[in-house]
Amino acid sequence: MLQDLIETLEQKYRNTYLEYWKDLHRHPEPSYEEVRTSGKVRDILKSLDLEVKTGIGGTGIVGVLKGNNPGPVIALRADMDALQIQEETGCSFASENEGVMHACGHDTHTAMLLGAAHILSEIKDQIKGSIKFIFQPAEESSPTGGAPGMIRDGVLENPKVSAILGVHIWPTLKTGELGIREGIMSAASDRLQISISGKSTHAATPEFGIDAVVIAAQAISSLQTLISRNVSPLDSAVITIGKITGGTRYNIVADRVELDGTVRTFAPETRKLLARRIEETVEGTVRAMGGTCEVNYRWGYPSVMNNPKITAIARNTIKKIVGEKGLYEIDMPNPGGEDFAFFSEKIPSAFVWVGCRPQDKPAEEFPKLHNNRFLPDKRALPFGVKYLCQVALDVLEEVGE
Ligand code: NI
Repeated sequence: MLQDLIETLEQKYRNTYLEYWKDLHRHPEPSYEEVRTSGKVRDILKSLDLEVKTGIGGTGIVGVLKGNNPGPVIALRADMDALQIQEETGCSFASENEGVMHACGHDTHTAMLLGAAHILSEIKDQIKGSIKFIFQPAEESSPTGGAPGMIRDGVLENPKVSAILGVHIWPTLKTGELGIREGIMSAASDRLQISISGKSTHAATPEFGIDAVVIAAQAISSLQTLISRNVSPLDSAVITIGKITGGTRYNIVADRVELDGTVRTFAPETRKLLARRIEETVEGTVRAMGGTCEVNYRWGYPSVMNNPKITAIARNTIKKIVGEKGLYEIDMPNPGGEDFAFFSEKIPSAFVWVGCRPQDKPAEEFPKLHNNRFLPDKRALPFGVKYLCQVALDVLEEVGE
């Protein structure tokens, strides 16, 4: 059986991809600077005789593995970038790049996908269709992200991809657990910038001016009512104005205030609704008080949406790899952003969490993503590799029908 073969080949290549991981971890590169990383990926994919394209959406790389039998095309995606944070894990293969660290585990994603490329290449005579291995830059580069650039450069075309799968290493789940949910997997994360103009005058004679500070205060309060009055109590959303700047002196009525914030939503309808209502509310409030304003709503990452059909296939694959016991049904989407969302907007997809917390570590004590002590359990990687291989075959089988 193919599944047994994958087990055997995973063991054969385990040291190889674990070495890739350690090497990538030691040499992290931030968004759009993944030059060494993508060079390494290119060389490995070429050594496997894949059809390799470089420079897709910046430092992105694509390798196509053509199976020996006809069938559809599906894609597996990994991200390659690291974060600007000083590593404090103290591990033997810690970052050698000052102030840069793989604190979101994208090194494991790249290493696991390379491991899967080794294994799947070896069984290509049994593959029905083609598999695109997508290594993308700049997942952390919100609000634009690296995925849209790759999509613009045609990563989902020639040959056309009919489904895409991705994983994220996940520190709250235990090693040996794989998490999935149908529908929304992550929050949409947008940026909100507002500038309010009034008219300055002496603080003692406000009737001759238009106070931008008072208008801003009113606008912020009105914005918060959108959450309580326009969003269903069964849905949720956040509007945070994290920064205000304005005014010049204590005794001058301010003529200008800038607001800077973020909007997080889960349901796409709520996202659209809030974008519209924010603009209406701010403009209405400012106009009523005699000022003028500019509202700049910057669309960031949408929500990752797990397609029902692909999710059902992936859930079955998870059971094959870790059994019912290892299948973790995610109840709440992650409030963070993930730019895999741009792929899932275009084609059916499933995004899965790969648990990486050692069995003996309580969840509260294990460092989370983006923490300077985050280091995944190396025993987690084989589960991710086997899942990626098996899900590719399972999805090819099912979308091919
Ligand atoms: Ni990440």
